[in-house]
Amino acid sequence: MSAPKKLFVKTYGCQMNVYDSERMAGALGAAGYEETQDQAEADMILLNTCHIREKAAEKVYSELGRLRPLKDANPDLKIGVAGCVAQAEGEEIMRRQPLVDLVVGPQAYHRLPAMEAKVRNGEKALDTDFPEEDKFDHLPRGPKMRRAPAAFLTVQEGCDKFCAFCVVPYTRGAEVSRPAERLLAEARDLVERGVVEITLLGQNVNAYHGDGPDGVWSLARLVRELAQIDGLERIRYTTSHPNDMTDDLIAAHGEEAKLMPYLHLPVQAGSDAVLKGMNRKHTAEEYLRLIERIRAARPDIAMSGDFIVGFPGESDADFEATLELCREVRYASAFSFKYSPRPGTPAAGRDFVSDDVASERLARLQALLTEHQRDFQQAQVGRTLPVLIEKPGREPGQMVGKSPYLHAVHLDAPDSIGRVLDVEIVASNPNSLAGRLRS
Ligand code: SAH
Ligand code: SF4
Ligand code: F3S
Repeated sequence: MSAPKKLFVKTYGCQMNVYDSERMAGALGAAGYEETQDQAEADMILLNTCHIREKAAEKVYSELGRLRPLKDANPDLKIGVAGCVAQAEGEEIMRRQPLVDLVVGPQAYHRLPAMEAKVRNGEKALDTDFPEEDKFDHLPRGPKMRRAPAAFLTVQEGCDKFCAFCVVPYTRGAEVSRPAERLLAEARDLVERGVVEITLLGQNVNAYHGDGPDGVWSLARLVRELAQIDGLERIRYTTSHPNDMTDDLIAAHGEEAKLMPYLHLPVQAGSDAVLKGMNRKHTAEEYLRLIERIRAARPDIAMSGDFIVGFPGESDADFEATLELCREVRYASAFSFKYSPRPGTPAAGRDFVSDDVASERLARLQALLTEHQRDFQQAQVGRTLPVLIEKPGREPGQMVGKSPYLHAVHLDAPDSIGRVLDVEIVASNPNSLAGRLRS
């Protein structure tokens, strides 16, 4: 038998790419590849890329440039680009960087083994189709190996929302939900491999509407059915759009103990004029009332969000409205970005705010968000929280776990990976909590 070929995968962008990378490694595993963490020994290097902001896309080309010496040293090395840059730029990637052998868009991963065979033959392979079939259906999983306690499960892909700034509807295509029974089977399989926490993924995960055995299932129904699986202790989902936050999903936050009290619900901006320019299809007030209803169902829920500053047309007063919205919500965590014009999106041609102004706004927003995040963390000190122990920490015996609110928690707890333990929170550090086991 010939030695297995080695695959090195580097993942950029969102969690959906993390999940896809795992599945691509599974598909190539069936074609004789074993994963390696050392790109110098790889027979194939796959970059799973992100196109969301200009910087993210440019990173791919600089990384490809750095691979040149490896290819010079090993002419049999094959280099592939997958993900959203592959979808958006297609053949252009091979023109700009001739060392690329293979370009595969996010909906065509099940065709990777055939593409691999082609590049082994010395040809180039390109596939950026949006085939009808469920790509995951055709992607084999690797051997039944033990898994880390927390896993991602993609339930929905694509986006029909067309926010004026965003490439995702173009790179990932229209909203498609995976059939419910297949997801339940995949979740059971994950639990058998030692997974106790599953995060359901989708570009608009709460728009999930998959075929179930008795009609179409909503995300709330899927969550409730997943909660019946013994051994699965925690369920999360991300990312949600405010307009798809249905009553039954809000109710599930109050009723389903396995559904964790954390919700990433991006709003992007606090000014109605900017929200309108972004095509978000709701007002700031509607968003705030929605959060009130969510908090009525689950008072301790940790809210998280995304923000864009310097969107075309954003005035000082518009930006103040974003700060005001943040003061009202008091996010437990949040991500904020300077607007980056993306080719092909409606906002790309509009006059944008100068970079200096956008940078100054970003700094002010981030200072406020950091203050709120610190307050939320500080409020956990003295509480006892159920913490899922995930991996060893830096010191011997030290572990890193996850709070219900998605904080990293550092503690001494030998031999406890995969268990949910009661942990007293003793300190709040800049990006994590410190705790000790309750005896
Ligand atoms: N589907 C999710 C997230 C999509 S991308 C949602 O609707 O929220 C993740 C985040 O990247 C977005 O929430 C937005 O804040 C940011 N983003 C997307 N396009 C951007 C752009 N052109 N410039 C800056 N930030 C952007
Ligand atoms: Fe992009 Fe808007 Fe769709 Fe989110 S909802 S993926 S921001 S278009
Ligand atoms: Fe990036 Fe594509 Fe995800 S653009 S954020 S990798 S959907």
